[in-house]
Amino acid sequence: ENEFNKTKVLQGKRVLITAGPTRENIDPVRYFTNPSTGRMGFALARQASLMGAVVTLITGPVDLDTPGGVNRIDIITAEDMYQAVLKEYPQQDIVIKSAAVADYKPKVTYEHKMKKSSGDYAVEMERTKDILKELGRQKEHQYLIGFAAETNDLEAYGRQKLEKKNLDAIVINNVAEEGSGFGHDTNASLMIFSTGKENTYPLMSKDDLARKILEESVHDMKGEPS
Ligand code: CTP
Ligand code: CA
Repeated sequence: ENEFNKTKVLQGKRVLITAGPTRENIDPVRYFTNPSTGRMGFALARQASLMGAVVTLITGPVDLDTPGGVNRIDIITAEDMYQAVLKEYPQQDIVIKSAAVADYKPKVTYEHKMKKSSGDYAVEMERTKDILKELGRQKEHQYLIGFAAETNDLEAYGRQKLEKKNLDAIVINNVAEEGSGFGHDTNASLMIFSTGKENTYPLMSKDDLARKILEESVHDMKGEPS
């Protein structure tokens, strides 16, 4: 199959993808984060671009090269990501939130490096904004896809998040499965659609999974069976 014959199913579509972890500083040299490497989000951006989409990738701090043709926006905190995503949202056709966003941040970020003392130390944390929930609330024409990483009860937790955040689909990574999730090149997952349809994906490369997620979403958007 040569390049000329490939159908570009996302031609003319605008796709927004978030990737990677967020980082919440307590002082200039210390922060809270998570082990997300950004690989799933970058795979989605690469595949969406290959499928003809105009791709915007909003990413936390990761050590990955930007896929060709992708418009990359770098952010650090959950609040930064919230601002960047909400700004891009109105122009988008498909939005995929594969970032691992911090649920909590330190209540205070100190300007100067903290000094240790002999006693214990407690950090007071407060909630960050739920970006995806806000996208669900403001949804107009957009097709909205969430991600979740779960160790158990994938289907039940997935359905709860799908409904609570007003999503069109959710991809739940089974992080209890060997080789799946954070820091791996492969994922085993379950994709649930708001129509009730469910697809189970065995362990596969993140690029293969990205392609399936995008293709299935296009079918679902058109109301076609896959
Ligand atoms: N998400 C988000 N903003 C947050 C937290 C999560 O946009 N502040 C998004 C993630 O990018 C993901 C989806 O919500 O697409 C689900 O994230 P997850 O952590 O699994 O769910 P939570 O709603 O945060 O619930 P919990 O962590 O308690 O399971
Ligand atoms: Ca969370």
